[in-house]
Parts: sequence; structure tokens; C-alpha cells
Amino acid sequence: MADILAQKPLDGKKIVLGVTGGIAAYKAVEVVSRLRKAGAEVHVIMTRAAQDFVTELTFREISGQAVTTSMWEKVTQHKVEHIALANLADLMLVVPATANFLAKAAAGLADDMLTTTLLATQAPVFLAPAMNTNMYENPVTQKNLRELAARGFHLIEPASGLLACGVTGKGRLPEPVDIVAQVISFCAKERDLLGRKILVTAGGTREPLDPVRYLGNRSTGRMGYAIAQAAAARGAKVVLVSGPSALPVPSGVRRVSVETAREMREAVLREFDDADAVIKAAAVADYRPKNVAANKIKKSEGEFTLVLERNPDILWELGQKKRQQVLVGFAAETTKLEEYARGKLAKKNLDFIVANDVSRADAGFAVDTNCAKLFMRDGTVHDCPLTSKAELAGIILDHVRECLP
Ligand code: C5P
Repeated sequence: MADILAQKPLDGKKIVLGVTGGIAAYKAVEVVSRLRKAGAEVHVIMTRAAQDFVTELTFREISGQAVTTSMWEKVTQHKVEHIALANLADLMLVVPATANFLAKAAAGLADDMLTTTLLATQAPVFLAPAMNTNMYENPVTQKNLRELAARGFHLIEPASGLLACGVTGKGRLPEPVDIVAQVISFCAKERDLLGRKILVTAGGTREPLDPVRYLGNRSTGRMGYAIAQAAAARGAKVVLVSGPSALPVPSGVRRVSVETAREMREAVLREFDDADAVIKAAAVADYRPKNVAANKIKKSEGEFTLVLERNPDILWELGQKKRQQVLVGFAAETTKLEEYARGKLAKKNLDFIVANDVSRADAGFAVDTNCAKLFMRDGTVHDCPLTSKAELAGIILDHVRECLP
């Protein structure tokens, strides 16, 4: 680790580090020290309670910067506005994050400098929860953590062990070296897709039945949009072929809007040849109505039979055409997750497949969280426990990056 720090992996980064009032606040001192050794400029904000554990002077000395302790003090360096630090931050980190702070963050409160800065910043935010095990496991804390994860906050998993309160369990702040390692690895991959073209499909297709009706599915596009956004942020040129979706186009992404599976196929094939990777998060209808009525179908007594015909399997076709491209598929299943996922991986000639159990309430369609298993071509499996779609997008792109030539 010492060597890594000497390479200054955080050179030029401005990090705002929040310290809240937990016994682990003293460990934040070492976090600041390591961040500085790694080249970062660190600005510390302390809550009122944090100052009962560690003095402002300690952080001022170790960071080499003025420390913010109140909203109302005479600001020396940051030109007064309470959002100055929020704007300045390339990354925000809260060490330790107490249960009280997490509750305020989840609720969007802004009653001190730290919560105000958190609400105002657009920088990526890392939170390192640390507290008594019972407080950590309390359903309301867990609910707040899920809420924060769903909003894209990066949660640093607490460690287990003997806590200061004498209890043994989960809730310990991880070692400063591990916290800083997570920040470094996050920053390292910031532009690792520069110069790559990534084609992402998202949303569900709509297969018309008549001029007013269609067959569709529950996909909202959130997973695919999160991937497109993350890939663009990492420097890729991103084309997002999307079925109808209410989501805004992520910045730096070119969206091609389609409705049917056949339109999606055409758009994808047009963009395929020079793509480096294709990530097919779209929920493509396997069937379409054989006949599309020119006029609205009128109701009549008795049953109505709809004849469906097969849609092209776009991903299978890409698997046949594939040259250098990395191909990633999705498998949303309600049963036999592993068996079906491995079958599709082989049949469609993929590099890996992201499989999720859509029968869970907190994963799959129309929620901000997901949990998935990544089945790789070489037989390895990566388990991604419940996390935000933004975080899962990052994990998927890490694997794409590894598969790229
Ligand atoms: O076979 P299944 O539909 O479950 O496979 C899912 C994967 O295949 C997804 O990545 C989806 O985008 C893609 N797919 C496709 N064309 C279809 C059906 C699915 O590209 N007609």
C-alpha cells in the first residue's frame, strides 16, 4: 500500500471528508493522512458531535486545510457559500457515518454543514457506516442504507469484530488502509473506457396490435440507462438503443429511440461493426402479433385469439457475427436462474451474462436496486449482492473492461 500511495494515484483530486460523531472518528485522522499521501487535497467537515471525539486542530494539522465545523462561522477559504465545498469536491467521503447521519442523509435533511454539502454535491459519495451492531442491524438503519444505495451512494461495508461498546458483531469501521484503497480503485477506473465505443440497449420493446394497443413488458430502462451513464462517465463513446422510456438521456450519451424488436435489431446492427462492446440490457419481446390491425380492434362477445410470431433474437445474431466485440447479455428469470443463464451464455456466444431473479421485490424491473450473478464464459461466477443499479453498472463495466482486447 505504501508503494501505491507513493505513486500519487489521487493526484489533483479534491476530496471532502465528513466526520460524524462516532468513536471511530479517530480513524478518520489516518484516512485523511493516507488520502494526502496519495496526492489528494482533503477538506474536512466535522459535525458538532464529531468535535467531542477529535479536535478540529487535529484535522487541520493533518489535512493542512481549514476545517469546517459550522454553517455560520466566518469562512476563510471557501468564499462563504455553504455549497462551496459541495462544488469543489471531486469526491465526498463520510468516515465514520453514524446511524443518525445516515438517517438524515436518507431523509434529505440539511441542518448542518455536512448534510447541506451532501445534499448539494454532484460528486460521487462514499459512506463508511460504523456503529453498534444492534443499531446497524436495526431495520430502520438497514432501510436507510438501502435507500442511500439506491440513490447511488457508495457504501463501504462495515467490518465485524469487537466494537468499542463491548459487543462483538458487524458495525466496525474498516481499517483506514481499506477505505482509502476503495477510493483509489474507484478513481483509477474513472476514464478506463476512453476511446471505446459501447453499445447499450435498454427498456422494453412494444409490439403493436393495432393503432392504439401493443404488447409490452415491465422494463423501465433503469439498468441499461445506468450502464450507459456509467460508461460515458468512464470515457466511452456510448450509443444507447432504447425502447420507450421515461428516463432522461444521460449526459454524453447518444440515444437512438426504437419501439419494436425489429427496429431495435436494425439500430443495433447499424452500430455493431465498430463497437468494442455490446451490453444488451433491453427486455426484447420474443413474440409479436402476426397481424397488426390497420384499425382499432373492436370488442365482440366470446374469446379473442391472438396469433403471435417469433421476433428475431438480436443477441443470438450478434453472437454469430461477433469478431472482436465483447458481448454481454441479461437473463431475467423467475426459476432455474443458473441453468437458464448458462444455457443462454453458450447459445448466444456471450462473454458473460448478468442473471437476476426478477421474482424478488427488490431486484429486477422498476426498482432502483438489483442483485445479480455474473456467469462468465470461462465458467467463473461473480455474485453481486443487493446494490444500486448504478453500482451494478460499475461492476458490469469492470468485467467488460477485463474482457476487452
Ligand atoms: O433468451 P432471453 O430473451 O431470455 O435472453 C435475454 C437476452 O437476450 C437479453 O440480453 C436480451 O436483450 C437479448 N434478447 C435479444 N433479442 C431477443 C430476445 C432477447 O437480443 N429477441
